[in-house]
Amino acid sequence: MKNKIYFLIIVSLFFLNQNNIFTQTYNNLWIPDTISGTQFNLNIRDTFAQIVSSGNQTITGAINGKYWGPTLFFNRGEEVHLNVRNYLNDSTTIHWHGMHLPAVMDGGPHQVIPPGTIWQPYWKVNNSAGTYWYHPHLHEMTLEHVSKGIGGFIIVRDTIESKLNLPRTYGVDDIPLVFTSRKFDANNQFVVQNVAYGDYLLTNGVMNSQVTLPKQVVRLRILNAEIERGYNLGFSDNRTFYIIGNDGGLLDAPVAVTRVKLMVGERIEILLDLSKDNTGTSIDLKAYNSGQTFGFPGGEPATSGQFGSLLNNKDFGVLHINVGSSLPNSINQIPAKLVTNDYLKESDATSTTTVNITGGQPPSTPFTLDNTPFTLNKINKTINFNEVQKWTIANNNVFGHSFHIHDVQFKIVARNGKSASVGSHESGWKDVMFVPLGENVSFVAKFADYADEIHPFMYHCHFANHEDGGMMGQFIVKNPTSVEDNKSINFDFSIYPNPTENKLYVNLSNNDIEIYYVTLSNSKGKTVMMLPQPEIQKGIDISNLTAGAYFIQIIDKKTKSISTQQFIKK
Ligand code: C2O
Ligand code: CU
Repeated sequence: MKNKIYFLIIVSLFFLNQNNIFTQTYNNLWIPDTISGTQFNLNIRDTFAQIVSSGNQTITGAINGKYWGPTLFFNRGEEVHLNVRNYLNDSTTIHWHGMHLPAVMDGGPHQVIPPGTIWQPYWKVNNSAGTYWYHPHLHEMTLEHVSKGIGGFIIVRDTIESKLNLPRTYGVDDIPLVFTSRKFDANNQFVVQNVAYGDYLLTNGVMNSQVTLPKQVVRLRILNAEIERGYNLGFSDNRTFYIIGNDGGLLDAPVAVTRVKLMVGERIEILLDLSKDNTGTSIDLKAYNSGQTFGFPGGEPATSGQFGSLLNNKDFGVLHINVGSSLPNSINQIPAKLVTNDYLKESDATSTTTVNITGGQPPSTPFTLDNTPFTLNKINKTINFNEVQKWTIANNNVFGHSFHIHDVQFKIVARNGKSASVGSHESGWKDVMFVPLGENVSFVAKFADYADEIHPFMYHCHFANHEDGGMMGQFIVKNPTSVEDNKSINFDFSIYPNPTENKLYVNLSNNDIEIYYVTLSNSKGKTVMMLPQPEIQKGIDISNLTAGAYFIQIIDKKTKSISTQQFIKK
């Protein structure tokens, strides 16, 4: 009898525990709003969201909403204009991860957006249809800003992908999924510092998420936006699913798998065939992270402490999928062929470079590349415009890392020197790749279209804490042939009225000058606005600036020459 009571108590404690605030019933998946067209208004704010199902809301950072941000739809070939307003109390930046664009528009650590100011990058979309994303990138602040939830998806469309018989109805049969995990304090607030792994998984910001998907072939666009954790993804019935896209667009043909690893910063697009499932049944998309070897982020055994987490080294659900009814004109087939990529080959490379992932062993700093901690003033590599380079990333550190490079999409050509060791699931265009502990991985990339000797691009470990800690370098793409292009010229401009309160007008003395962008900086040299040229005839709206002395700099597009004037804001 006594035993029976104990048994009942233990059983009910177990269920009580299962029913605690973090593991209740399923919550409906949130699908981010969308913005399409060529003008995109992004307002970055501190806000709050009910992330834990009961109790306090969590203070978050978000763009136009309560957590994360809208999905931006770009069409290849169109010029997009982004109006990024920073309403945070901190400076931040927004980087367009995976986009091929001019370095000054890239939103890396150099394109700072001070509080209360607007940053207006623009570029012609030159990426293939695929799943990209945007997120803060201010040096030493990336962990904090990303952890708050600031970020969003970019979906690029193009004429090739649009003709394929693929699921393409956003939020219906084409679902964006962003995975990350967080630790919470007793007041339901994110714990950010010294946290490599969260305890609770958030899928699109939702714990224990579920979604109802139509009985057909559905497309999932999956982003690992974790701090460190990797995901070994698969379905609860071990069914085969099909990888159709990597970071930079569609593969030549779907790759059938039952498991795929998705590491920090990486995206995959997959097709999941629900056409033979019965309406009303369900399956789970899960992370099969138990039994991973050391060096797989999140494979560590500890459940608490700096590298511990309740999700470490175990299998856990990431999305509960209910099979709904089928839709009219539903897609019920996995295509045999997708697109024809013209991949770079190892033999296309005319030069090679190596990056050693270093640090981790005292007395050196824990996070470096080539034993050199990142500094904003040091250019680590100079690459010739249009050069095809082979990069080998060698991991001599004490753990696995996710290597990312800006500007380009690359093709992985070898793992540990062997082309046969490159998985077909990673055979497409990539901008992030995992470099396991003690291994090396090689890729080739072409540094085309954008040369700029002033503004560098970044390469780094995409673990936000490692990147903030200095595991980052920067390169410039230099155009050695067009001497003309690099010859600096003197030009002048005048501004009026000065002093001024609301608008500042600019008159250029030289008609050959094409304004690349304009920066306004305060008397301490801090950039307060960065603006593209097009609207300058209407005057620059400076009504938001506090009174004082400022500098306005105009940068010429062709020569990158700079001219500066001072003005007073009344
Ligand atoms: Cu997604 Cu340099 O970053
Ligand atoms: Cu790292």
